[in-house]
Amino acid sequence: MQTSTNQSLRPLTTKINDKGNIEIGGCDTVDLVNKYGTPLYVIDEVTLRSVCRDYKKAFSSYDKVKLLYASKALCSLATSAIIAEEGFGFDAVSGGEIYTIHKAGVPMGRVLFNGNNKSADELLLALELGVGRISVDNFFELALLDELAKSKGKNVDVLLRITPGIECHTHEYIQTGHLDSKFGFDLTQIDEAVDLILSTYSTLNIKGLHAHIGSQIFETKVFDDEIEILVKEMARINDKFGLKLDEMNIGGGLGVKYIESDLPPSVYEIAEIIISKINSAAEKYNIPKPVLYLEPGRSIISTSGVTLYSIGSSKQVPHGKKYVAVDGGMADNARPSMYQAEYSAVLANNPEGDNLQNVTIAGRFCESGDILIKSISLPEICEGDILCVFNTGAYNYSMASNYNRVEKSAMVLVNNSQSDIIINRETLDDLVSHDMIPDRLRANV
Ligand SMILES: Cc1ncc(COP(=O)(O)O)c(C=O)c1O
Repeated sequence: MQTSTNQSLRPLTTKINDKGNIEIGGCDTVDLVNKYGTPLYVIDEVTLRSVCRDYKKAFSSYDKVKLLYASKALCSLATSAIIAEEGFGFDAVSGGEIYTIHKAGVPMGRVLFNGNNKSADELLLALELGVGRISVDNFFELALLDELAKSKGKNVDVLLRITPGIECHTHEYIQTGHLDSKFGFDLTQIDEAVDLILSTYSTLNIKGLHAHIGSQIFETKVFDDEIEILVKEMARINDKFGLKLDEMNIGGGLGVKYIESDLPPSVYEIAEIIISKINSAAEKYNIPKPVLYLEPGRSIISTSGVTLYSIGSSKQVPHGKKYVAVDGGMADNARPSMYQAEYSAVLANNPEGDNLQNVTIAGRFCESGDILIKSISLPEICEGDILCVFNTGAYNYSMASNYNRVEKSAMVLVNNSQSDIIINRETLDDLVSHDMIPDRLRANV
């Protein structure tokens, strides 16, 4: 089976150059740090485009496929422009993501708006900008969207987000398709929702069903189970309500390789399983082959990203661990403290050094839980060394915060030995730019 980019631990262009430093996209990472500072998110354009092409090629035999990128994984103007150029549409989950995608110049018909508690303002923005589909999540939203669409004199094409009742073996916080989930209509509520759309919510035009079962998935069987349920439900709804639902969104979820022992399936393997299952299920339940929407996030953007940190203090606990602290941590990468995510790293300026020692990489934020990597073997570390953490493209910047009032990191795009800033580093002034001191307090300071 052909391999795909999500199975690589590092960006595809990663090398050790003749200075002995890690190079990505033809750029020496030490030079990047000297030019842009740390922490620094780096996105390798070749890797990003390569995985988009894997998806296109892998699903090319299914002529009704629509590839959406789940922009929650990382949403920026430049990455949106690249992904759109590769022919993808977008799954957005907020007004901010919709606005960013719009500003990147993406045709809004290619966008699906999804989420369990979209606000009226966000729905209005989606209607005004003309997003292609809205995935409706619950009864409250059905009523709200219909009311807003009526006020704007618009009709809306919708998918019904359902909870298919599938447990996948991933972290509890990134499972979404199990029965007791906050997302979507329970299977037993679908008929009531369809009935309401047909009888009451005249602006809503139901096109199909949507589910997403979880993230960082390595098993393939769960997609099989999901498709079985979606196709069966579509056939049943069509029969019962005399409809012709022909769109099925199976979400995202394909995993990536964060550490050596992670063995995610390739995009090609997943595509084969998904396509053959749709064909057999469509035949079994006697419906035409549906339009297939996929919305991968992590597997599109993760591998292209690394984060460069400067190493500062270190501390040997007597008879205990050696802690090595970097100048970032849980505010630029929340995943280790949030769900014990693991990462691989090397010293960017000494990737092949010997004298390996086991250390714990600590973040700089004021929480004991701010540990980026619990245990890693690195060459002897000196102050000023640069740590390159791999596979940080997804759910790092997009989850970043200003905890401890630390400025958010910059992001550069590298390709062909060229580096371009795509997100500026925040400044101290940015940090206070939204603060106000009421005049009555100012007088007393
Ligand atoms: C509805 C939906 N679609 C797509 C995704 C993207 O998942 P992933 O990044 O695992 O591919 C998510 C992630 O949580 C999601 O909730």
